[in-house]
Amino acid sequence: ELPIKKVAVTGAAGSIGYALLMRISSGQMFGPNQPVELQLIETEVGMKPLKGVTMEIMDGAFPLVRKVTQTSDPNVGFGDADVAVLVGGKPRGPGMERSDLMSANAAIFAEQGKALNNSAKRDVSVLVVANPANTNALVASAHASDIDPSRFKAMTRLDHNRAIAQVAGKTGAMAGDVKKVVIWGNHSATQYPDLSNALVEGKPALDVINDIKWIREEFIPRVQKRGAEIIGASGRSSASSAASAAIDHMRDLHLGSGDSWQSMAIHSDGSYGIDTGIWFSVPCLCRGDGVYERIVDIPAPDEFSAAMIDATRKELLEERDTVRHLLPGGDVQAVPK
Ligand code: NAI
Repeated sequence: ELPIKKVAVTGAAGSIGYALLMRISSGQMFGPNQPVELQLIETEVGMKPLKGVTMEIMDGAFPLVRKVTQTSDPNVGFGDADVAVLVGGKPRGPGMERSDLMSANAAIFAEQGKALNNSAKRDVSVLVVANPANTNALVASAHASDIDPSRFKAMTRLDHNRAIAQVAGKTGAMAGDVKKVVIWGNHSATQYPDLSNALVEGKPALDVINDIKWIREEFIPRVQKRGAEIIGASGRSSASSAASAAIDHMRDLHLGSGDSWQSMAIHSDGSYGIDTGIWFSVPCLCRGDGVYERIVDIPAPDEFSAAMIDATRKELLEERDTVRHLLPGGDVQAVPK
């Protein structure tokens, strides 16, 4: 039998957590042979609903789930973790400015980065789902100096899946026959869903779609603003598709996904001319066991794509500057409880 994987999940009693935990428990994240121990982390207030969530996991009678623990102390919750899925965060309250939201979450991610550094495995695989995801990943990694920044990713897989779904809907192809879409940049409305390299049933997507107006005026804004469209329709945020994307991201990263391109926001190493040190979504190949490589052997972007990539790059630099006071060496403030 494989050694047990310790999987820490923050925000475990929230909407995404609720949808995610059953699927991790049933083996959809790490495969049907991988036993897991779930280390669930919530706020003090979240401990009571978390108890109910834990009872439901228990009632699933999952053979792969060997133990479930609950805590509001990230140092305990990340103890010896092989994997950490960071879903917990502060939502935007009434009248809250974007910069306040950034700083509130950066304070949480500073604390969690320190806790990961103190207690998780050195090769812990971290996925940040909570928004602002890219910048939260930057802050957490900055506070985890003993963990390689490449171990931290922010999730743009939901955007990637949304882009595939739109192309499938437009062309009538099956989702599985839409390949090589790319989400560049931030998990926000400035992201660039790019079809320049995409294939539909093996043929260039741009030729199959043959409608540049649709791509620029419908496809791109729809993928960028899909979260708001779903809230508008159902009155709830897109929790189950977000959980599904987290499953896809981790499954591909840990089990490998062959020559299939995946979008992940990773620590920029300067590739594609993107500033080093920000978390930027790029196309990757997932080799399994958490190993990935950027796809750099692609044609240079055309003028339109270059401008789109530049806009999301600028937003991420601004976000970094907004939370600079919470980065090590900056004016580090106390983390509010
Ligand atoms: P939610 O509000 O239902 O759940 C969040 C949970 O996190 C709550 O139970 C809360 O108590 C907990 N929490 C807050 N601070 C915490 C902390 N410091 N430690 C541990 N737990 C903490 O929200 P939902 O719908 O589950 O979304 C979670 C996050 O995911 C949000 O930030 C949302 O914006 C983001 N999101 C990201 C997506 C992506 O594609 N990257 C897609 C959809 C949502």
